[in-house]
Amino acid sequence: LIHLLSIEGLPKAVLTGILDTAGTFLSVNDRDVKKVPLLRGKSVFNLFFENSTRTRTTFEIAAKRLSADVINLDIARSSTAKGESLVDTIANLSAMHADMFVVRHSESGAPYLIAQHVAPHVHVVNAGDGRHAHPTQGLLDMYTIRHYKRDFTQLRVAIVGDIVHSRVARSDIHALTTLGVPEIRAVGPKTLVPGDLKEMGVRVCHTLEEGIKDADVIIMLRLQNERMSGALLPSAGEYFKSFGLTPEKLRLAKPDAIVMHPGPINRGVEIDSAVVDGAQSVILPQVTFGIAVRMAVMATIAGNDA
Ligand code: CP
Repeated sequence: LIHLLSIEGLPKAVLTGILDTAGTFLSVNDRDVKKVPLLRGKSVFNLFFENSTRTRTTFEIAAKRLSADVINLDIARSSTAKGESLVDTIANLSAMHADMFVVRHSESGAPYLIAQHVAPHVHVVNAGDGRHAHPTQGLLDMYTIRHYKRDFTQLRVAIVGDIVHSRVARSDIHALTTLGVPEIRAVGPKTLVPGDLKEMGVRVCHTLEEGIKDADVIIMLRLQNERMSGALLPSAGEYFKSFGLTPEKLRLAKPDAIVMHPGPINRGVEIDSAVVDGAQSVILPQVTFGIAVRMAVMATIAGNDA
């Protein structure tokens, strides 16, 4: 594996190998992440053309824990504002001896374009492109599910919310399918759930009650207002009434169901504060696992480079 651009098509052995490697970076209490010399002398460039809190920061921490040098390009103050193209930006950063680009972009496919223009020894990691894919989020979600539920082959997983605009949903569905989850549900209003999911073996539910009944894992998604235009935009209040996860509705799921969310959360829109902060929420452990999983991704693609 040279780049990580998508989970789609990633063999099960590679996927589980990354999860296993991530496990080796976590201490027994699953809180502390070890520092190792696997990427010593390598330069990792974080290129976030779209906002991020969790992904950018955990990639930086992960690269530092692998002993790499990390450069965060401040896109807003970079020469892209003067009209420099993405390809020229990459060529110039490559001239500074970049070994890896971690790329987030609002355009689906931007990391693929970069991967086509870098030298063969340079690695590209997709940190979220448009509505297409967010592979490291998908992997950290799988790590979280495996941590709490162990066996993927007995699970009912509900993904709830704005699925049509969600790169996380797409990456999660590919990963869950590869790992053998027998029942994946996509839950949301008709306007926010794409029709082609049924062809991927996903059960589509248009009420929250049906969607989360007896679920083992609930993955909540926010409304991606920045990717919507007028007609699609539901009001926050109406949306919460129908699809907001409250403690009462959560009782429809299995008693030991876990509640996940990739963040950022919008309290009172897709999820009630009492659920975010409740005993079944694993939203913050997801973030911590993200460090080890991103270390594992970078170590897998570049750890054996000379
Ligand atoms: N989950 C996620 O991608 O969060 P950020 O947008 O803050 O990176």
